[in-house]
Amino acid sequence: MDTIMRGTHVSGAVPESTVNPYRPWPARITSIMDLTPQEKLFELRLIDSDAREAFDFSAGQFVELSVFGVGEAPISISSAPSKQGFIELCVRNAGDVTGALHRKQCGDIVGLRGPFGRGFPFEEMKGHDVLLVAGGLGIAPLKSLINHIHDDRHDFGKVTILYGAKKPDEVLFRYQFDMWQHRDDFDLMLTVDQPDDTWEGEVGLVTRLFDKIDVDPENTYGAICGPPVMYKYVIAEMRKKAMDVDRIYVSFERRMKCGIGKCGHCGVGHQYACVDGPVFNYWEAMNLQEAI
Ligand SMILES: Cc1cc2nc3c(=O)[nH]c(=O)nc-3n(C[C@H](O)[C@H](O)[C@H](O)COP(=O)(O)OP(=O)(O)OC[C@H]3O[C@@H](n4cnc5c(N)ncnc54)[C@H](O)[C@@H]3O)c2cc1C
Ligand code: FES
Repeated sequence: MDTIMRGTHVSGAVPESTVNPYRPWPARITSIMDLTPQEKLFELRLIDSDAREAFDFSAGQFVELSVFGVGEAPISISSAPSKQGFIELCVRNAGDVTGALHRKQCGDIVGLRGPFGRGFPFEEMKGHDVLLVAGGLGIAPLKSLINHIHDDRHDFGKVTILYGAKKPDEVLFRYQFDMWQHRDDFDLMLTVDQPDDTWEGEVGLVTRLFDKIDVDPENTYGAICGPPVMYKYVIAEMRKKAMDVDRIYVSFERRMKCGIGKCGHCGVGHQYACVDGPVFNYWEAMNLQEAI
């Protein structure tokens, strides 16, 4: 059981040859929240209680979500590993599977495989400052990390979150950001490219926010997730702040099928994003062809 839920990258009590890593586990949708016109937040609970208990993940990992009769799609886990018994997925209505999921109701059953891949190095980050930079839907995996840090806040130094969206109505998790913006243990800055009359915050690309922050380069870990075009520019800003390439972590989306290193769909250079990533440190990514 343990092995099935954790994927092939973690060994468990059950020999790998005896389990079927392609078999999805039924999960019930227990809550659905509209975040924007395109994105919804789904809370899911595995129906099998042993599987639910064995489900253990790290921030930055993903699941393969099945809508039965339609197909599967890789989706990052948005909830924190410190919250057990359920997972949250923030899903954009982008095509067949995600569109079918958006038509589901509370109580409906979907399938889950995973968790898969390598997440952010949470334990290594402890004791340090953390600078998290998200663009658009990239906040979905970073929210898991932010909430995990929140639940272990005394183990971290300064936590800075920079988040950019295209428009004010595309800012995800607004309710949570409104809360965090009033706390003094998180420095949170939001920016949008195209403001409307209601927007009172920063305007421009997320990289512009770097002028407003101080970074202690010797003591800071960076985590980046967003659209592919963003990485090059955000990494350049982190390097301008003299951050070490070895302490900058990036999460890559590649087209995936199996999620377990078998089908070859998700190659990044000589590695597979599904098992060697989706989180890579920038030092590794620099040596991978076409990674950034
Ligand atoms: C590790 C990982 C984590 C992800 N996390 C999330 C998440 O948290 N929330 C979320 O909403 N989505 C996430 N995605 C993206 C999601 O898996 C894709 O949008 C997926 O294609 C949706 O399936 P679909 O059947 O609904 O869309 P499809 O019908 O397969 O495709 C819709 C459109 O997206 C294009 N497309 C498909 N896959 C990709 C890709 N990887 N990159 C660029 N374009 C693509 C297709 O060509 C098509 O134009 C993640 C992807 C990966 C690899
Ligand atoms: S998705 Fe099949 S090898 Fe990565």
